[in-house]
Amino acid sequence: MIKVAVFGYGTVGSGVVQVIDDNNKLISDRIGDGIEVKYILDIKDFPGDKNEKKLVKDIDIILNDPEINIVCETMGGTRFAYPYTKSALEKGISVCTSNKELVAAYGPELLETAKKNNCSYLFEASVGGGIPIIRPMNTSLAPENIEKITGILNGTTNYMLTKMSKEGSSYEDVLKEAQALGYAELNPEADVEGFDACRKIAILASLMTGKTVNFEEIYTEGITKITSKDFEYAKKMGKAIKLLAIAENKDGELTAMVAPCMIGDEHPLYNVNGVFNGIFVTGNMVDDLMFYGSGAGKLPTASAVVSDAIECARNLGRTLDCVWKDEKMTLSDRKDKEREFFVRVDAAQKDNALSLFEGSDGVSLDDNEFAFITPKMSERAFDDKIVRLDKVKSVIRVEA
Ligand code: HSE
Repeated sequence: MIKVAVFGYGTVGSGVVQVIDDNNKLISDRIGDGIEVKYILDIKDFPGDKNEKKLVKDIDIILNDPEINIVCETMGGTRFAYPYTKSALEKGISVCTSNKELVAAYGPELLETAKKNNCSYLFEASVGGGIPIIRPMNTSLAPENIEKITGILNGTTNYMLTKMSKEGSSYEDVLKEAQALGYAELNPEADVEGFDACRKIAILASLMTGKTVNFEEIYTEGITKITSKDFEYAKKMGKAIKLLAIAENKDGELTAMVAPCMIGDEHPLYNVNGVFNGIFVTGNMVDDLMFYGSGAGKLPTASAVVSDAIECARNLGRTLDCVWKDEKMTLSDRKDKEREFFVRVDAAQKDNALSLFEGSDGVSLDDNEFAFITPKMSERAFDDKIVRLDKVKSVIRVEA
């Protein structure tokens, strides 16, 4: 019998217990052995909960129980999750996590600790919720030089942008709705400022290159400045506005960023709406691949954690390796990247804008303002020009 401990009995942790309970027979058949949750670690009490007897507050009870081979870590944050994960791995207990903060900050160190102790550190649920992307990158895509990953990696902001687009709602209103539905936290900063997506693309970019991409070095812009007016123009131009996390690896030079971007209806991410995530991957041999599914939520994320636990159960006593060295990957200057830009200005600036950005396509929705898409140019060239334009209302990158 495989005995599992769950660290953190919150949304995802309780989902892990539910997945293991509800699908117990088929999971056991696939492992070739029974599986059960023996302990749940949480500082809170859950009086009356059906798993009350499994709850413990002292991690040592779990770490000193020789029956425990696998931990599912769903605590979030790094303060407790880091020492607890490290201690479990040092005891030879495999850890499966949904915690992108921990993976982005300590991934290579924890992978090394797992290796030294003949166990595994797996993190499928840390990116894209229920979407299988980490294991495909480590296995199915092993022959590939992955050239580009473009992802909608945050369900909360994708829900908000979809609502703004479809219903013309304001940013403030959709944020309140997202909070009421439990998608956005009371402090929504990690989602709306792009920090969550930034950690996720840092993890994917690290797997792309095999080196460590520091999430703090990735240029990150959130969705807080996007207005319903931007969506009116986007619609008129046949485009969607999405918070994209992009990592591009060209001839060994890596660029990465998180920013709201306009994409046309021919782009595979155009129809990724609501809380769904999409990850568009280009390999040098396999060409384009699209991964799509529930990027957040209790059961999809828990399913990904349990899929890792099943892999660990099938490979007890050995390490499921992942090439992610503790060697810094230097990011190239994103300002050399060429693209088009969408710009909205006061109507009085129309002539000035068209002479500065010669060759731009313009459009107006009313007499008050003018919007245009620039020709393709580097971010550096764009920055040099845009400072010479007064009364700029909005700038959004266009992703081809
Ligand atoms: N806050 C995250 C999101 C949760 O909305 O995508 C899943 O990582």
